[in-house]
Amino acid sequence: MSKEMKIIAAKEAITYVKDGMTLGLGTGSTVDEFLILLSKEIQNGLNICGVVTSEKTKNLSNKLSIPLTTLENVKKLDLTIDGADEIDADLSLIKGGGGALLREKIIAFNSSEVLIIADESKLVDKLGIFKLPIEVSPYEHEVTSFKIMDKLNEVGYNGSISLRKDDQNIFITDGGNYIYDLSIGLINEPDNLEQLLNLIPGVFENGLFINLTKKVIIGSENGVRVITK
Ligand code: A5P
Repeated sequence: MSKEMKIIAAKEAITYVKDGMTLGLGTGSTVDEFLILLSKEIQNGLNICGVVTSEKTKNLSNKLSIPLTTLENVKKLDLTIDGADEIDADLSLIKGGGGALLREKIIAFNSSEVLIIADESKLVDKLGIFKLPIEVSPYEHEVTSFKIMDKLNEVGYNGSISLRKDDQNIFITDGGNYIYDLSIGLINEPDNLEQLLNLIPGVFENGLFINLTKKVIIGSENGVRVITK
């Protein structure tokens, strides 16, 4: 989808940022557009402090002179701005296409408000066409992946699971973990699935974000649309 639509969503998100806020800064190409706009506001006198969800966002924020802090320092974030890979009608999400899901979920969980910015290609009737990322411990990770499929089969899902690679190498998250991408078709009860997956030892987190956002900003060819829950 075009960069222009991402910029449209990012521009609208900027209007939610107020002076003095602590911001969670998500990960991905749409958030990158937001960071560029945010840095311009900071140059014009806006006073904010950000907490990043990835090394990628940290590097770009540093380049753009966006002041950063840690969650430990600020305890709670006023607003988090992040992207998504899929968004359904309930504003449940699949995230983690960029591999930052664990840190993204920690930051979303500790934010008063989470604003999702995306282009309209991310809207779906039901989650599950995009492969669901699961962040796991490298320790005995193959066994963990078998257990994941066993548990899913028990509750009626079938499909496949694959270890994420970066060219020929295993993809490693910022936290030093691995990611498995799960292809199980459309997801019927995302909230149940989110919990089921996280109960498996070796699984750190999965890319289902349920009840973490009440507002999504969509950039489209026809302009901007704000969807509220
Ligand atoms: C990163 O791990 C993801 O959760 C991203 O937020 C998601 O993949 C959206 O990225 P884009 O804005 O690049 O589509």
